[in-house]
Amino acid sequence: MSGATALAGVGTGPRLLAGLGNGQRLDLAAHLEVHGPVTSLRTRRRAEHPLIEAIAEAGVRGRGGAGFPTASKLRAVKAAGRRPVVVINGSEGEPLSQKDTLLLLRTPHLVLDGAAAVAEALGAKEVVVYLHRGREAVERSVQAAIRERDDASLFTLVAGPARYVAGESSAVANFLSGGPAIPTTTPPRVSERGVGGRPTMLSNAETYAHIGLVARHGPEWFRTVGTASEPGTLLLTITGAVQAPGVVEVPFGTLISTALELAGGVSDASVGYLLGGYAGTWMRPEIANDLALASMVMRERRAGIGVGLIAVLPQAACVLAETANIMRWLANESARQCGPCLNGLPAIAEATEALATGRVDEFVLGKLERWARMVEGRGSCHHPGGAVQTLRSALDTFADHTNQHLMSGPCSQAHRTWLAIPAVPTGPDADFR
Ligand SMILES: Cc1cc2nc3c(=O)[nH]c(=O)nc-3n(C[C@H](O)[C@H](O)[C@H](O)COP(=O)(O)O)c2cc1C
Ligand code: SF4
Repeated sequence: MSGATALAGVGTGPRLLAGLGNGQRLDLAAHLEVHGPVTSLRTRRRAEHPLIEAIAEAGVRGRGGAGFPTASKLRAVKAAGRRPVVVINGSEGEPLSQKDTLLLLRTPHLVLDGAAAVAEALGAKEVVVYLHRGREAVERSVQAAIRERDDASLFTLVAGPARYVAGESSAVANFLSGGPAIPTTTPPRVSERGVGGRPTMLSNAETYAHIGLVARHGPEWFRTVGTASEPGTLLLTITGAVQAPGVVEVPFGTLISTALELAGGVSDASVGYLLGGYAGTWMRPEIANDLALASMVMRERRAGIGVGLIAVLPQAACVLAETANIMRWLANESARQCGPCLNGLPAIAEATEALATGRVDEFVLGKLERWARMVEGRGSCHHPGGAVQTLRSALDTFADHTNQHLMSGPCSQAHRTWLAIPAVPTGPDADFR
């Protein structure tokens, strides 16, 4: 990706990306000029803090991948009854995603406002901004924003290992408690026992940015765009064969083709789109273009919005070769502490590589399906299930191409791949420390 580009939303002005034209970064003064101050929300029911009530009425859902209702998590943290910790998950371990980085680089106060409002609602005295190591520009931006604020003492910034599973919520809590950044078994959820054994409100950076706006404008405003079940806007990283790769903001329910137009449109004929991330879903363009960015609609196609990502693969690419690279990367990125990741994912990666670039017998598809069933839903986190979803969607959607590989060996495009795969980690990152 050439860099994060903020484009206007459709059907509404940009919300999270307001004021970010021409590469601007909003310092505190500019932020207050664009968004105004956070004012006190009025409450209808006395039973609950007005912000939690507003988030529930707004229908805010998490933007870290699973779309979990944010109010339910806040209520679980509150119900745990002890002083909680608030964590902003800014790790953005998905290799192609840029949206959280964009927010923290260019409009950090919106994220910090949301987290500060949540801390106030929960009675928390500590907000941790959690990042992956090696993102110095993001660290500098967040530190500069913290220094500008009256509530600076609320925030600390911690950079953990730049590993994919290190962004999973229990891995983050484990690292912030002094352990390695690897997932732990749930229950207990981090909302009950997280950082240092305390209830922990851990959400994605974009989720807090939306809360920063709900805290200003209230739930009715939030629901004026989007769908009834998914109100508001979402950020999408659009990458690959489009004219202007970058981050766009669209209301939920927007057609994928409309979102792609905001990124300048598809620049080359495309063989397929990868939706949601490397643990995502492959889809043919002619089907994906008419699909609305709405979980219910996408679920019918066994797809999801995931971390808000669309990667457009050019015609001159082999989906199997891309999928083999992704499978190998996901296998390497596991924490290697559960059977499915220790044995299952490497075997799947090897067989997918052989299918993409070598000669295989007709039994390979049966083996892949058997191993996929063995790892799905197993392990301490959703990592193996995510890998299987990408694999299955490639084999189902591109069954013709797969058969060609089976019958005639690798296609002419199989040895050149397009999607970026991060380097093998070294140093403390290798041990999740
Ligand atoms: C393997 C794996 C990696 C993850 N990486 C991230 C990440 O980099 N950033 C993130 O916000 N959430 C990540 N998540 C999701 C978190 O576990 C958690 O659900 C999320 O941060 C909660 O925020 P939300 O409720 O605002 O969506 C990951 C989950 C899994 C299973
Ligand atoms: S399932 Fe895989 S990534 Fe998740 S905790 Fe187990 S070994 Fe680690």
